[in-house]
Amino acid sequence: MYRGGSGAIRSELVSELSWGACLLGVLIFVAPPLLAAETPDGSDAARGQQVFAQNCATCHGNEGSGGFGPKLAPISARKDHRPVTDIIKEPSANMPPLFPASLSERDVEDVATYLQTLK
Ligand code: HEC
Repeated sequence: MYRGGSGAIRSELVSELSWGACLLGVLIFVAPPLLAAETPDGSDAARGQQVFAQNCATCHGNEGSGGFGPKLAPISARKDHRPVTDIIKEPSANMPPLFPASLSERDVEDVATYLQTLK
C-alpha cells in the first residue's frame, strides 16, 4: 500500500521532470529566432552599413553625409523604414535602381535599418 503510493509519487516526479526537460528543449530551439528578431523584420544594421559603403556612399557620402545624392542623415526624422525600402526598390529618375540586380531583399532591409540609425 505505502510502497505503491511512493512509487506513484516517484513516477509523477519523473514525468514532471521529463516534461520540464521537454519544455527546456523547446525553449532552446525556439528562443534564438525570437531573440534575433529584435528589429521588426530581423534586419541587421551592421550588415546594412557595409551594403551602404559598397553601394550608396559614392553618391550619398560616408554615413549619409550627402554628395551627388541628398544628405540622408538623419533620414529617420523624415521617413520610416518602409518608405525608405520603397525608395531603394523604386527610386526616382536620378537614383539608379540597384534592386534586384545588385541588392538582395535582405540588403535592402539591412541598409534601410542602417539608415534609421544615422544621426
Ligand atoms: C548614382 C548615385 C546614387 C546611388 C548609387 C544611390 N543613390 Fe540614393 N539618391 C540619389 C539621388 C540623386 C537621390 C535624389 C532623387 C530625387 O530627389 O529625385 C537619391 C535619393 C535617395 C533617398 C531619398 C532621400 C530623401 O531625402 O527622401 C534615399 C533613402 C536613398 N537615395 C537611399 C539610397 C541607398 C540606400 C542607396 C544604396 C543602396 C542609394 N541611395 C544609392 C543618388 C544615388
